[in-house]
Amino acid sequence: MKTLETLDVSGKRVIVRADLNVSFRQDGTISDDFRLKAFLPTLRTLQDQGAVSLVFSHLGRPDGKPDEHFSLRPVAEQLSRLLGKDIRFVDETAGDRAQAAAQAARPGDILVFENLRFDPGEEANDPAFAKKIAQLGDLYVNDAFGVCHRSHASVVEVPKLLPSAAGMLLVRGIATLTALRDNPERPLTVILGGAKISTKLPIVERMLPRTDAFCLGGALANTVLRAKGFRTGKSVIETTMVERMKQLAQDGMKLHLPEDVVVADGPTAEASVHTRPSAEVHDHEMILDIGPKTVEAFSDIAQKSKTVFWNGPLGWTELAAFSRGTEAIARRLGEIDGFTVVGGGDIVAALVNMGLIDKFKFVSTGGGAMLEFLAGKELPGVAALASS
Ligand code: 3PG
Ligand code: MG
Repeated sequence: MKTLETLDVSGKRVIVRADLNVSFRQDGTISDDFRLKAFLPTLRTLQDQGAVSLVFSHLGRPDGKPDEHFSLRPVAEQLSRLLGKDIRFVDETAGDRAQAAAQAARPGDILVFENLRFDPGEEANDPAFAKKIAQLGDLYVNDAFGVCHRSHASVVEVPKLLPSAAGMLLVRGIATLTALRDNPERPLTVILGGAKISTKLPIVERMLPRTDAFCLGGALANTVLRAKGFRTGKSVIETTMVERMKQLAQDGMKLHLPEDVVVADGPTAEASVHTRPSAEVHDHEMILDIGPKTVEAFSDIAQKSKTVFWNGPLGWTELAAFSRGTEAIARRLGEIDGFTVVGGGDIVAALVNMGLIDKFKFVSTGGGAMLEFLAGKELPGVAALASS
């Protein structure tokens, strides 16, 4: 795979595929600009070297048609503030206005084009759409790790049409996750939360031989507690996975489950909240967070590890009452010497909200892409660069 350093970008028009897929608050302000910050090194390098940066991204899932709610305009403005330089927003993705803007740009200029997914050709991986994008530039750089698991036009087709390379964020993401997956410094602790154990099983299976401890929290732990014969009340369970987890739990998965849990009648701010041993959940209760003893137990395991990987919230982090476990684990991981890696949309958003994201040594910008990569799948976006 070629990297940005090997390209002579000076004076060239560079199509840059970024992942500027940020989340917004109700009031329309950006709640999590982590991905924008992560993209700055590549953008600065291109500007310093006198390239014309033509930046393309998706935002949300507008379904192949223009939709103001998914415009990249506010994202381009925020990117400009973070960079401390002017960025021009082009309110078209490919077409006459896009063409004219790309032509008029001077070395050092940065242009952000409108959402790629406003055109059905992006997700359909339409070669004609890819050609329209490729025509705007001389070179292609992919810095969008978070979307490399999608076979979309800007990810897999454009690199067939132009000399291509991986940007700095993509290179670092691949290198860090490859080491984590194939050759981690041990002991390695993997902390998994989130809703469904089924979506995490492929990485559990792939990483099992090199993982010393799996610590499970969040709703996915409920399914495993149930498999082990615990009563889980009204907790969210993945019923279809219970039998499968009985098997895995016996296979010596080095599993650590919550020994105590935070429960309530439901996930509401008004609910009365109790902490109980995991064996004493009442029939009308839902497990909504890990308890303090579990925080201690998981933190002790992590403390003794050289590498810790964390994906998925450990409780119902939309509400403060059920965020304590996630927050406490984040604080404890911030104090350890080992290499701490966190990734996944929900947990990263929660940690940004809590102001704790800077406590981690590496934060992956990928959600689905990271999970697929760690499970050993080839990412189409990376493969496209390798063969271009
Ligand atoms: C993400 O947020 O996971 C990436 O930006 C990819 O977005 P997608 O899941 O809508 O393809
Ligand atoms: Mg996603």
